[in-house]
Amino acid sequence: MKTLQLKFDYSRVNPVRWLNVLKQKVKAFDIKPNPPVIPELFAAIEKNYEADPALVFGNLYKILEISPQNYEALLMLSEMCLNYGKMQEGCTVALLGAKHYKNDFNFHKLLGSYFGYLGDLQASAKSFKRALELNPNSISLQYLLQAAQKKKVNIAPREYISNLFNNYADTYEVSLLQNLEYKSHIELVDYLRLLIPQEPVDSLLDLGCGTGLFGHEFTKKVEVKKLVGVDLSENMLTKSKEKNIYTELHQSDLIEYLQKVNTPFDIITLTDVLVYIGDLEPVIANSYKALKPGGYLGFTVEALDSGTYELNINGRYRHSLSYITTLNNRYRFGKIYSKTIALRKEYGNNVAGYLVLLQK
Ligand SMILES: C[S@@+](CC[C@H](N)C(=O)[O-])C[C@H]1O[C@@H](n2cnc3c(N)ncnc32)[C@H](O)[C@@H]1O
Repeated sequence: MKTLQLKFDYSRVNPVRWLNVLKQKVKAFDIKPNPPVIPELFAAIEKNYEADPALVFGNLYKILEISPQNYEALLMLSEMCLNYGKMQEGCTVALLGAKHYKNDFNFHKLLGSYFGYLGDLQASAKSFKRALELNPNSISLQYLLQAAQKKKVNIAPREYISNLFNNYADTYEVSLLQNLEYKSHIELVDYLRLLIPQEPVDSLLDLGCGTGLFGHEFTKKVEVKKLVGVDLSENMLTKSKEKNIYTELHQSDLIEYLQKVNTPFDIITLTDVLVYIGDLEPVIANSYKALKPGGYLGFTVEALDSGTYELNINGRYRHSLSYITTLNNRYRFGKIYSKTIALRKEYGNNVAGYLVLLQK
């Protein structure tokens, strides 16, 4: 995990001083305080949520100027700051939220994330624990707490994945393609095209197909007779279905699906999916069985320099190339092709990853 050089001293945050900062920001956005119509400001936020973040930030500050303890504005502003990498600002807003709404788990959850990103894992774990006390059945909180505590966890829980992506489905493509310059799917299609011997491809299994970005890119460039998509999230699958490119779509855990494959595939792909699975052994072992001889398993992972795999504070795993090579050898895949790529942006920086193809 990336830690900041300078640790943020959150104990020094003075909420009153911060509110004055908020007021100055309102002025900077030049929003006229009259008439103070909070519902209208929220309506504009909803309309412009993805397209105009500056307007959203501006309106949130404006609402907080009129109503400093407004729950929705504090929560949304703190979440927005996390999405846009404004860590210290968002952390301060979450602290204000936790001060005003002591028993609301959301602000403590956000604080857990902020402290984690700011490099203070102890404070992060403390906040996640407090959030868990307030919301004891939350699988997501248990998972994030384990990440903050650096516990060895093999895989993200299914409930965590379904919740995350069911909520994300509507904005996923705009967010990934426009804001984060996501390109794993394009990179994998182009890498595969260098190697696949013939077209049309008979069958391709797209595991964790999401909204169908990979399938869309592949079918634009290569003819494929049978394209099967599998995902845990119902809402992501609905988006895939709208693309009308998959021959079959299944709502299932991908390892369970692999275990049931009777007719082997020519290609199996996972783009930006193994970031939710630490222990890759079940995926690699079962993919081997589900591939035709000579078939390809293609995937992307976030890069880890050494060791095997590591769970980060953002709930995503990174994997090392040496770990993947070990598994490649253990499960007797013939050849391994790999290259380092920029997967997407995170807070303005490239996220380094590996593009990997294993040939059976
Ligand atoms: C970041 S998205 C990537 C989607 C798509 N492959 C792409 O490149 O845009 C990760 C997807 O993997 C799915 N996923 C994660 N773990 C899974 C699992 N164990 N079984 C099935 N789907 C899973 C999620 O529901 C989500 O749709």
